Parts: sequence; structure tokens; C-alpha cells
Amino acid sequence: ARLVVLVSGSGSNLQALVDACADPAYGARVVAVGADRDGIAGLDRAAAAGVPTFVDPLKAYPTREDWDDALTAHVAEHRPDLVISAGFLKLVGPRFLAAFGDRYLNTHNTLLPAFPGIHGPRDALAYGVKITGATLFFVDAGMDTGPIVAQVAVPVRDDDNVETLTERIKEAERRQLVEQVGRLVREGWTITGRKVTVP
Ligand code: GRF
Repeated sequence: ARLVVLVSGSGSNLQALVDACADPAYGARVVAVGADRDGIAGLDRAAAAGVPTFVDPLKAYPTREDWDDALTAHVAEHRPDLVISAGFLKLVGPRFLAAFGDRYLNTHNTLLPAFPGIHGPRDALAYGVKITGATLFFVDAGMDTGPIVAQVAVPVRDDDNVETLTERIKEAERRQLVEQVGRLVREGWTITGRKVTVP
């Protein structure tokens, strides 16, 4: 299966996927990495793995629609079976969702629907929850609202701060991402309403 991965930052989830794909039995390969900004470690990781990259900054386009069209076209060039947002910090638009909506995955660092948005672990810690985690889901038009594929629980420790909690979630999140992407590409999936079924 062909994976296109979208990143905005350090790319540790991307790295976990690239590493998993080194085993032919995994059944997938990262064919391209896209970003919404230059100068991020995620792009360096792609280059180091010999994976082609493209960068589509929102600011490079006159409107958000133009950006959405360009991103959709760049992803489509690589004919992905799955597109994976791994720390990609932009909400895609209608054009992108029309093209990839049934195969666009995102990983979020809380147990959705609690604490959506970019400060998930900070918000979970501030709220005082004792268990949080990571959620893998298919993206819909909302922010962190799409049908859930899998979740993993991570306990909050009394001495956690935002950094320690974020790091512990990321470890579980990477394992979940690798496991579930492998399962999806090997076994297929159907989405019916909010329910994701893997045969
Ligand atoms: C992940 O924890 C994701 O949930 C959040 O950003 C992080 C991405 O990290 N939105 P990385 O770039 O894969 O290291």
C-alpha cells in the first residue's frame, strides 16, 4: 500500500512509519511526505529515508481554497491508498476531503472527544484527568471529530508536567499508529457513519 504522510513538526510518528515499512511483511511504503512549512525535522527525516517531499505553505496561496486545491493535487500525484496526518497542523478543506476523506487518517494526542485541538495534553493536565491517551481517526470536516479507528490509554502521573505527559503519550501514539496502519493496509476497512470496520 502507498502511504503519503503529512507533517508540520518533528516527524517522530513519520519516522516510526518509515521504520515499520522497512519490513516487507508490513505491507506498506511511504511514497511521499508533505508539509505546510519548510525547515522542520519531519522533512529532514523524509530526505534521510530517500522519500520525496513537497511543501505547501498556506501563505504561498491567495486563498485557503487555492491552498486546498494545491495540496490535494500534490498528494494525488503520489496515488496514495492512505494519507496520514502525523502532526500536520492544518485543517484541510472540502476539495481534499472529497478526494481522500475515506482514507485520510489523523492521530491526536488525547482520548477524543475530550481535549481536541493543538494543546491536548496541556488541556488534559489542566483539567486534572487521571487517564488520557491517543486517538487514531478518519478525518471529517470538523476539528478532531471523525470516526475513530483506535484509542490507547495513558495514565497521568501526579508529578507529570506538559512535557513529560506529552512524551509518554507520543510513545503510545507511535506504537498505535504503526500497529493500526499495518492492520488497515493489510485487511482493508469500511466506514459506515461513525463506525470503522476492519474485516
Ligand atoms: C503528535 O503527538 C500528534 O498527536 C500531535 O503532534 C504530535 C506530532 O509529533 N498533533 P511528531 O511530529 O510526529 O513527532
